Amino acid sequence: MLAVIGGTGLSAINCFTIVGTEEVSTSFSSSAVEVTICESYGQRVAFLPRHGAGRTVPPHKINYRANIAALKKLGVEKIVAINAVGAIHPDLMPGSFAVPHQLIDYSHSRESTFFTNTDAEVIHIDFTAPFAEELRQVLINSATLINTVGGRGVSVLNDGVYGVTQGPRLETAAEIMKLKSDGCDMVGMTAMPEAALARELGIDYACLAISVNWAAGLSEDLISLDEIRAILAGCIGTVESVLQSVVAELST
Ligand code: HPA
Repeated sequence: MLAVIGGTGLSAINCFTIVGTEEVSTSFSSSAVEVTICESYGQRVAFLPRHGAGRTVPPHKINYRANIAALKKLGVEKIVAINAVGAIHPDLMPGSFAVPHQLIDYSHSRESTFFTNTDAEVIHIDFTAPFAEELRQVLINSATLINTVGGRGVSVLNDGVYGVTQGPRLETAAEIMKLKSDGCDMVGMTAMPEAALARELGIDYACLAISVNWAAGLSEDLISLDEIRAILAGCIGTVESVLQSVVAELST
């Protein structure tokens, strides 16, 4: 089964038929993880809003382990993650999309592994390519199709390096200069440890990043939350079309 993890701006899903809700218990949280079960093109699709249905959980407080373990328990084999990001690459104008191929993790103090049993042999996952290439290509094809055939006029960067910061504050201009010189094309707060936890459980994981602002210091203006919300609101319809197209492509 495919799962979609919704980020900021996507706390409910309207592009699939909702067929139920699963309350999934895991050993990583006292309360169950609520997952919406949907149907599209004859396939079941799970939907999990990363920040909670009430959009109240900030990036550093998300229980990434409970979320990924819950999806695994439901039989999820592939995850498409939707992440709002700040743009560093000049082609990633707010309102455009990227399907990153690499990441650099600057986050800290998050529960970032399932391998915490000190009695067991230590397992080091290979993380050379943090995103699943086949699923990335499906996302790129779908986003390009919606852009060209669907006439949405949204540009899609087919790769890029996603720098993951701790948040919840946005970065300083100097931090963004450092990320840029490190090779980051975009900056967000939520791809890690999500991507690594998915890899630890053998789930394919790819990310559709939505550029919602120029990163700190890269435009003349300060970053405005109202503008971010407006950009996101304008993108959600396109994101949903891309997701429908992903399910269609995976069902063939
Ligand atoms: N920085 C970090 N995370 C973000 C940003 C940003 O500028 N925009 C959206 N998520």
